[in-house]
Amino acid sequence: MSTAPKLVAGGGALPRHVAIIMDGNGRWAKKRLLPRAAGHKAGVEAVRRVTRHARAIGIEALTIYAFSSENWRRPEEEIGDLMGLLRLFIRSDLAELVRENVRLRILGDFRRFPADVVALIDDAVARCAGNSGPILAIALNYGAQAELVRAAQSVAARLAPEQIDAASIEAELETRDLPPLDLLIRTSGEHRLSNFLLWQAAYAELLFVDTLWPDFGAADLDAAVAAFGNRQRRFGGL
Ligand code: IPE
Ligand code: IPE
Ligand code: MG
Repeated sequence: MSTAPKLVAGGGALPRHVAIIMDGNGRWAKKRLLPRAAGHKAGVEAVRRVTRHARAIGIEALTIYAFSSENWRRPEEEIGDLMGLLRLFIRSDLAELVRENVRLRILGDFRRFPADVVALIDDAVARCAGNSGPILAIALNYGAQAELVRAAQSVAARLAPEQIDAASIEAELETRDLPPLDLLIRTSGEHRLSNFLLWQAAYAELLFVDTLWPDFGAADLDAAVAAFGNRQRRFGGL
């Protein structure tokens, strides 16, 4: 495959790796006087739309933040609802991911999830193991600080301090087999990273949109990609 950036309508380059902080499910539900769980359910529909569209427009890797290492602070009932939706999503969408040749990656310590959810995730990853197409990385019980702590521990066990460099740390990150992060989107008008991909975002383009995640769709992804295409990346140069 060519290494030249793909071009999209308007002439800008297509991001190879897009990450999304999918935020605003609760507020979406509140606006409709619905329980927060209804917002999460609508959020899953948005995941389906956006992952499909990302594949359709040729994005190589899409990383979605589904559960942070801090989300355990939510009420038990809401955590239960999120686990239930994860079960439903895997059961209903795995066949499509296999068929579409999606390489499924999980970031984060998902083994702390309920045992049956862990088993479903393991099975999903195994069934996608032979795939060679676009990457879908789902962050589940992910926190960038914990990821960096583990990377530091692992390089410190292998290397002398003076041998440690950015590449040796990068090689220990959970994103090591993903393309560099090009575009990081957060929905719902919040302007923070909430412990997501802190290292990887070093030179990513950041895009904060007011749209609540359940309202996010193909046109919003197109607009984000177009905005990326209009950015001038300098990486410290001129
Ligand atoms: C994002 O929506 C989904 C998760 C964090 C799991 P929120 O649940 O954070 O929605 P708001 O921010 O309360 O609106
Ligand atoms: C970030 O959203 C985590 C996910 C989208 C999974 P939060 O809603 O948990 O973030 P904060 O608490 O507003 O920073
Ligand atoms: Mg939120």
